[in-house]
Amino acid sequence: MKKLLLIICLFCFSVAYAADKKTLVHHFNYEEIGTQFKLYDVSGNVVDSSVSSATVIKDENSATGFGNVLHVKVGDVVSYIEFEIPNGLNGTKASSEFHTITFTILRPDGQPEQFKGTFTLSFGNTVSNKTSSAEIDAPVGVEKTLSYSVNKVSSISKKFRIGFNVKNSEYYIDDIYFWSVNYNYDYTDPLQTARYHADQIGKNLGVCVSPNQLNESSREGQTIYRNFNMVVGENAMKFDATEPRRGQFNYSSGDQIVQFAQKHDMEVRGHTLAWHSQTSQWVHDGNYSKKEMLAILKNHIFNVVGHWKGQITEWDVVNEVMAENQGRGVGQGYQLRGKNSGQESVWYDRCGEEFIDSAFVWAHQADPDAILYINDYNIGHWDNHYESGKTHAIYNLAKRLKEDGIPIHGVGMQMHTSISNLRVAEIEKTVQEFEKIGLKCIITELDIPGNNPSSSGEQSTQATQYAGLADIICRYDNAPSMVVWGIADNKSWLENSEATKPLLFEPNFAAKKSYLKIVDTFEKYAVAANVEPVVKDEINPLPAVVDVYNLMGQKVASQMLLEDIETLPAGLYIVGGKKVYIR
Ligand code: XIL
Repeated sequence: MKKLLLIICLFCFSVAYAADKKTLVHHFNYEEIGTQFKLYDVSGNVVDSSVSSATVIKDENSATGFGNVLHVKVGDVVSYIEFEIPNGLNGTKASSEFHTITFTILRPDGQPEQFKGTFTLSFGNTVSNKTSSAEIDAPVGVEKTLSYSVNKVSSISKKFRIGFNVKNSEYYIDDIYFWSVNYNYDYTDPLQTARYHADQIGKNLGVCVSPNQLNESSREGQTIYRNFNMVVGENAMKFDATEPRRGQFNYSSGDQIVQFAQKHDMEVRGHTLAWHSQTSQWVHDGNYSKKEMLAILKNHIFNVVGHWKGQITEWDVVNEVMAENQGRGVGQGYQLRGKNSGQESVWYDRCGEEFIDSAFVWAHQADPDAILYINDYNIGHWDNHYESGKTHAIYNLAKRLKEDGIPIHGVGMQMHTSISNLRVAEIEKTVQEFEKIGLKCIITELDIPGNNPSSSGEQSTQATQYAGLADIICRYDNAPSMVVWGIADNKSWLENSEATKPLLFEPNFAAKKSYLKIVDTFEKYAVAANVEPVVKDEINPLPAVVDVYNLMGQKVASQMLLEDIETLPAGLYIVGGKKVYIR
């Protein structure tokens, strides 16, 4: 039976890696790994006794000419090499601290040309990555670097196994690295996405989109619906898009977004009804009286909100109505944007403040279920920051509207910020202050550009900031959503964004550390809430017929077919002893 032979040599050959994009987490070397290597068959049984240090050949003149390498000879029993990972790394840290494994492989002359099979990587007995059986890109006699994603598993075993299930093969492996950037992030695996975890706790990670990005066969389209559970039109629902000529409405772009969202079970934010910018030229040119302007706005809101009634969860009713440079405190009023403040606003300058109150009332009348927001930029920091005055101004206005009985439900912080500007703790204070007055406070247009984001320090800071904001979203009921203003770094509305890297995905849609940290954050709260999704519960399948209880322990359904459970109203239930969230 024992046809396997493993000879281990010292690895010390090193390839100069272009480390500009990925961060090295660990480079295994012989001393760290130790000298105990085992060979296992596919079912995890030891097929060869451990190879002790006595059998290690420290041969500087190995067949590779590299010097010292790991030399693997597989007989006709499929086998894997096992060793221990140092530095406290284990499978639970995959996808957060490290994501990709690379190694150099060389197949010696004399081996068959074809090298077809599966690659398997596991921690202890838990498989982290298993490829499909395919030709492995390792031609005979050519040194190749292979790269595989390391997926998170629950095993805390330090034992680490890799290998190919190719019988009677021989190869040399060298330079095994773990990297922190997930070039092989598997966006098709729901478990690796933020939306999977966000869905479970009823939170939203959103993104702005244009219809041309929604091609489902493109990586971009898939990145959108697989990773996010909320969308907002980057431009599609603005005034100039929806009412380009007076009384002539065009919903085609917005409809495409709504259809895409419905197909993929995503929520839609509507953006925006009254804004000084991107308002059709005919509104500016028309020289309308205040009465006519208000009639125009009312007609616009009734048509647009009415068209998507029941399909759009929430609207930014008014956008950027606050003047800059407020220098105010709580209870000290506000100055609205308009000619008086040195900034124009077609609505304020012709109607005065009442267009704001009216816009909320009309939006509410047009869709009484829609959640209505006031949205603005340079707001969010509560104290100790030059922007705090504008935060206080918007607070004073939102409070005034609420006290006057206007149907306003929350404040949207655009948060076009930067790594150097953002203070996550001050954002949290603002969320708390709005909570006290019964208003939601969400992040609607987030981007966090850096100065030198190719430095790993800035990448980590950005990731910590994104995760810090996600953490707030998870902890506050009045802060259910966080929306980023774009997907890939090179396609942001910000100038020079390819260099400042403000968003969550690389130009090729590889996930950045910032995205992966958001995944971890949502996952942490989903796990803590012990909420298991109904359909994807593969580990502990629920019975086919179940009793369903509400959180008060009252039975809401007897002997219901599991597949029918999604017909229950949205909310939390207890099913088979587990909390289940139905969206
Ligand atoms: C931006 C879009 O991203 C651009 O494509 C468009 O050319 C201009 O508007 N605040 C807002 C958003 O409320 O609507 C803006 O979106 C960005 C600033």
